[in-house]
Amino acid sequence: MPKKIKRNWFVPKERAMTDFDKRILAYQNRGKLVPKPQLIKTPEQIEGIRRSGVINTGVLDLVEEKICAGMSTAEIDRLVYDYTVAHGAIPAPLNYEGFPKSVCTSINEVVCHGIPSEDEILEEGDIINVDVSTILNGYFSDASRMFIVGGHSTPEKERLVKVAKECLDIGAQAAKPWGFIGDIGKAIARHAHRNGYTVVRDLCGHGVGNAFHEDPDVDHYDTHHDGMLIVPGMVFTIEPMINMGTWEVFIDEEDEWTVVTEDELPSAQWEHTFLVTEEGLEILTH
Ligand code: MF3
Ligand code: CO
Repeated sequence: MPKKIKRNWFVPKERAMTDFDKRILAYQNRGKLVPKPQLIKTPEQIEGIRRSGVINTGVLDLVEEKICAGMSTAEIDRLVYDYTVAHGAIPAPLNYEGFPKSVCTSINEVVCHGIPSEDEILEEGDIINVDVSTILNGYFSDASRMFIVGGHSTPEKERLVKVAKECLDIGAQAAKPWGFIGDIGKAIARHAHRNGYTVVRDLCGHGVGNAFHEDPDVDHYDTHHDGMLIVPGMVFTIEPMINMGTWEVFIDEEDEWTVVTEDELPSAQWEHTFLVTEEGLEILTH
């Protein structure tokens, strides 16, 4: 039995049907999942998200400049908070569903959502994901990078960081306007597996811009489904979490946030916010 698909697209009575509508409706009529109209950003919204992304990138550039062995993750949190607020913006993680800090800092076997702490001191050779999300004038952007503390780690961890970045780039190349979200995870999983790694399944990329997390879910593994149609004007993140061992993860019971690999082997993640154009994906967090 084919799954019943939500008919998300409609043309309001007040306006005539456009070629754009017709193109989307053709997919919907063939049983494909298409975005709701509000997921197609207006030029004004795109400009707002773009500006938010500029600050988000400024934060990550600052962290990249300052990060070093001996520093606590709480110091990274202060850098993020101070820079963001000084630029008239708000760190999106702060108080988001009870998250207590302004940024996620995830070291080695921590997959994501690590909480900055005074007691957590960066050591030479650690690999750390710093995940920054910014709200400017109500518009959200979201990106993360990996840093190798001290510039060198083990060859194994350095390769993981490199391949995780390749997974992000390959996922972005696989995402085409009038293609499908499912293409992204298929391409990422192929590259990860080819390199002997696994892909986290419990967390995904997401629509972003008018809120922190919007539709669609962007899975990074092969779901064997098309998923949502990719339409120009959509904005979403791709943020693959790539593991050295098992793809399985658990959540720290004490803080209820920190996501850790089940086998406690290292994990790496990179993330950008992308705008879909007629030509392909444009990075808004460069
Ligand atoms: N920045 C994360 C993402 O990429 C979300 C973090 S939620 C938080 O979607 F509360 F932990 F900040
Ligand atoms: Co995100």
